[in-house]
Amino acid sequence: MSELVSRVLDKENLKATVNALETGNYRNMPPVSADSQRYVGAVLNEEVEKQFGRKERPAVELILNSIDAKPSGYSGKYVVKVRRAEADLVGMYHNISVADRGVGMSLYDMLVHLSVPFGTNKKNGDYIGRFGVGFLSALQWGMNDNSSVTVTTSDGAEKAPFGKVKGWKAKFYGSDGKPTGLRCRIEPASLPGRGTRVDVVTNAYRVGRIGDYIAETLGFFDPERAVIEFNGQRVNDGPVGDRYNVKIMGKTEEMRIQMGVEQTKNHAVRLFSNGVLVETKPINGIDVYVDMPASVQPSIGRDELVQDRAYREAMENFWTIMLPWVETHRAEPGMTRALRDGLPKIADKLDCPMENKDILARALGLDSVYVCKTAEAGWLRDFFGDGISEKVYGTMDDTCVEEWTDYSGGWGVIEPLFNVIGISTVETGLKEIKVRDVELAPGYGGKSPFLRHKKKVYRNVNHPLVDGTGTAAKYALKGELKVLTGLTEESVEDDIFIGD
Ligand SMILES: Nc1ncnc2c1ncn2[C@@H]1O[C@H](COP(=O)(O)OP(=O)(O)OP(=O)(O)O)[C@@H](O)[C@H]1O
Ligand SMILES: [Mg+2]
Repeated sequence: MSELVSRVLDKENLKATVNALETGNYRNMPPVSADSQRYVGAVLNEEVEKQFGRKERPAVELILNSIDAKPSGYSGKYVVKVRRAEADLVGMYHNISVADRGVGMSLYDMLVHLSVPFGTNKKNGDYIGRFGVGFLSALQWGMNDNSSVTVTTSDGAEKAPFGKVKGWKAKFYGSDGKPTGLRCRIEPASLPGRGTRVDVVTNAYRVGRIGDYIAETLGFFDPERAVIEFNGQRVNDGPVGDRYNVKIMGKTEEMRIQMGVEQTKNHAVRLFSNGVLVETKPINGIDVYVDMPASVQPSIGRDELVQDRAYREAMENFWTIMLPWVETHRAEPGMTRALRDGLPKIADKLDCPMENKDILARALGLDSVYVCKTAEAGWLRDFFGDGISEKVYGTMDDTCVEEWTDYSGGWGVIEPLFNVIGISTVETGLKEIKVRDVELAPGYGGKSPFLRHKKKVYRNVNHPLVDGTGTAAKYALKGELKVLTGLTEESVEDDIFIGD
C-alpha cells in the first residue's frame, strides 16, 4: 500500500502504473525509494486509524462518498444501499457492503483519489466530502488477518462484452493489524453498469453497532438528495423538517429545522452539516434538529462545526426563522411550553446569543402574565430581559405550579382579574405567588381557576371553568370568588360577570 501511494504521488510513476495495470506489463515501472515509502507509511498510520472517535464511522464515510457520487442533474430517487451480514457461522467475521449507481471511478481516479491521503478534488458546496481522508478510514476494517476492503467501480466510459461496462476492482487487505501492513491488488472487472460498490469483510469487534450509528447520523438526511437503505430498510424516513432560504455571506442557501417534544430519553440539540450529524448537545424537554447551510463547515473528522463567520450568520438566521417557525408550530401539543423553557437553553447550547427576543417572547405568549417554577422564572427573566421580567412569576412551592399548570399547557397563563382594594395595575417586582388551597366542585380535579396574591386576584384563563358557559361552571366560579374575596354574590355578579 505505501508503495502504491508513493507511486501515485509521483506523476511519471503514476502514468507508468496506470499503463502497467492496463496492459498487464509491469516490467517498466520505475522503482520507488524506501524513504518515500516510509514517509507515506507514517501518513497512512495517521489517516487510516486516528481520525474518528467512533469505530462505526467508516460506514458513514463510505455512504457519504456514495452520496457525493450522485451524477449531476440526476432525477428520480438516488439510493445508497448498505448491507451487513454475518459472514460465517461463528459470527466472527462480518460482511458489510455499500453500493451506489453513481458516477463511478476510472482506474486513474481510483488510484489518485482513493489511496492517496487528501486526494480529493471535491469543491466546497455541492459535496459532503472535503478532506480526502474518509475512504482511508475504512481501510482499518481490512487490516487484520482474513479481513479486506474491496472497491469495485466503473465510470461506464468503456463498454465490455455482453452489454457490460469495463471497470476495476481494488482489494485492500492486511494481516498484521497495521495500516503499513496493508496490501492492494488491482485487477480489471466487467460490471453490469456504472457505479461503485465497497465490500468489507472484517472482524465483528471492529464493526460495532453500525445500524444504530447510521440511523443516528443519517436519519435526518434529506431524502430528496439521497435515500439510504440499511438491510433493505430506509434510514432517512423520519420528518424532514421545514426548509428555509437563508443568506450566508451573500449566498442563498437552505437551512432545515425540525423540533419535537416526544417523550424520548435522549433529548438534544442536534446540529447537522449537509444532513450529516455533527454535534449532539443534550438538553431537557425538546429535540432540535438543525441542518446547517452548506457554507457552515465541519472540522476534519466531522465532529464539530467550525465557529466562523458562516456559523454566526447561520445562527442569526436561526433566530429569524424561529418566529415563523413558532407561528406555524405552536399549536402542537406541549410545543409552546417546551419552547418557552427551551429557547434560552437552545441559545446556550448553540453558543450564540439570541436575536429578536422581544418578538419571540410575544410569539410565545410571554406578553401575558405567567406563573412557573421559581427557577424557571429566574432563568426566563434573565434571558428575555426587562421586556418580560415583570410578567413572569415564580411560585413558592411546586404544588402551586401543579395547581396551575394542568389547564395551561404547562404554564399558568393568568390575567389580573381585579384588585380587591382597587389598585389597578399589576404590582411590579412581584416575584413569587402562593396559590390558595380551594376545594372545587367535583369534575374539575379540585383545582381552582383563581389565585390570590396579597390584595389581587388572578385567574387562569385556560381553566375549563373560566371558558365554561354552563351554569354549573358559572356557579362554581361565583362560589370560588366569594370565598376568595369576601364579596357578596351580587357584587360578584356585578363586578365579574358583566357582559358575560
Ligand atoms: N462511491 C464512490 N463513487 C465515486 N467516487 C468515489 C466513491 N468513493 C470515493 N470516491 C472518490 O474517492 C475520493 C476520496 O474519497 P474520500 O472519502 O477519501 O475523500 P472525500 O470524500 O473527497 O473527502 P472526505 O475525507 O471529507 O470524505 C473522493 O473524492 C472521490 O473522488
Ligand atoms: Mg468522503
